[in-house]
Amino acid sequence: MKFLVINGVNLNLTGRREQGVYGTETLEEIQCEIVAFARAHGHEADFFQSNLEGELCTAIQNAEGVYDGVVLNAGAYTHYSYAIRDAIASVTVPVVEVHMSNVFAREEFRKKSVLTEVCRGEVLGFGKKSYLLAMESFWL
Ligand code: DQA
Repeated sequence: MKFLVINGVNLNLTGRREQGVYGTETLEEIQCEIVAFARAHGHEADFFQSNLEGELCTAIQNAEGVYDGVVLNAGAYTHYSYAIRDAIASVTVPVVEVHMSNVFAREEFRKKSVLTEVCRGEVLGFGKKSYLLAMESFWL
């Protein structure tokens, strides 16, 4: 299978921002682990990161017919982006929502995701392992 792992707003700063929440590994380092994990299981992973909502929508639209699954950490857009929600609802490629942190153990506004209803499922709270578990859900 071929996966697209999409990271949204501020996730380019992973490893530098709020290290107590998101850890010290950079997004590039995490992506290396994701691709190694995918390959070890006979799969492929590509990556896309943007801080721009519309670019994330376009990446989801363009995943249709190209990828077997999308693993999406939309960052703070998770909590209010109807545009990203509609993009997910507009494609048939399954999208699994990911969060590194346990959003339910944090601020009140993080408890609401406008994306979950249109995603195949959600994995959260396991740090970088959330991405691996989300990907694994496609072949287990
Ligand atoms: C996050 C959680 C979001 O609430 C936050 O805005 C992020 C990262 C996570 O991976 O835990 O940027 O999606």
